Amino acid sequence: MVLDLVGKIGLITGGASGIGLRYAKQLLRNGVKAVTLADLNPDFAKTGLAEIEKEFGSNRAVFVKTDVTDIQQFENAFKKTVEIFKHVDILINNAGILNDKIWEKEIAINVNGTIHGILLGLENYLLKYQQGPEAVIVNISSIAGVGAFPNTPIYCGTKAAVIALTRSWGDPYHYERTKVRVIAICPGVTMTPLITDISGRNLGDVYENWLQSNIDTLSPQEPEHVAEEVVKLVHSSPNGTVWVIEGGQPSYQYIVPERETMPK
Ligand SMILES: NC(=O)c1ccc[n+]([C@@H]2O[C@H](COP(=O)([O-])OP(=O)(O)OC[C@H]3O[C@@H](n4cnc5c(N)ncnc54)[C@H](O)[C@@H]3O)[C@@H](O)[C@H]2O)c1
Repeated sequence: MVLDLVGKIGLITGGASGIGLRYAKQLLRNGVKAVTLADLNPDFAKTGLAEIEKEFGSNRAVFVKTDVTDIQQFENAFKKTVEIFKHVDILINNAGILNDKIWEKEIAINVNGTIHGILLGLENYLLKYQQGPEAVIVNISSIAGVGAFPNTPIYCGTKAAVIALTRSWGDPYHYERTKVRVIAICPGVTMTPLITDISGRNLGDVYENWLQSNIDTLSPQEPEHVAEEVVKLVHSSPNGTVWVIEGGQPSYQYIVPERETMPK
């Protein structure tokens, strides 16, 4: 399954800063015509748009103020995208927070936000406005979605949910009717404010203690590396697959064992 990126249109949630902004730039570097940054924060967007204009010239990106927990705001981001660019081919469900202290909001952004994106993208906008033979949805999970991190169990739960959503919506049954490929990405520790400001974003001292004892064992990588690997996977990767990108190394596929193969 291959998507020729040239001339395509992307929509990136949480695209105004952090890894999301790097996805936007890396897509543009690889031939994508324009991107929509669907983000909550207009100040981040101002800087992000200026950086994009400096590197790629004008009319390559727009900002649509979007809270992904509100499906109407999210739909508005799709509407504006097709109004301005006529098409939409790539959705990166990237907006996310790590903060178990406000876990209901964390679930709303990380899980409901991703579901909103899939519902709007796969059942409506990507289906109707893709230009080529297929469109792609990338759902951003985490190594916290496949491993155990005792300091933030609820964040881990939200990222495990993103993988489950990807595997079911990434089933051939849906691809055959929609021609929308759905994949998930599990970045490892990546240097953005989500990590540099991680202290205290948990359920209290016993959770913080684990973090402080283990933080030095985690091997950080740069957001640009994640973006480079993700854009390769947007171009080609099998539907329904899950990919880990950690420690600045090339991506590798995370293969979920089939329950039928378990010892009985
Ligand atoms: N940084 C890491 O180590 C790491 C590792 C694994 C997975 N991830 C995931 O990658 C994604 C991006 O993380 P990051 O490190 O770039 O974070 P970040 O905090 O640097 O950036 C997050 C962006 O999302 C936006 N955002 C927050 N809430 C939003 C909402 N409700 N609606 C729309 N936009 C919203 C913010 O304004 C910001 O621009 C998240 O889903 C995160 O869970 C990050």
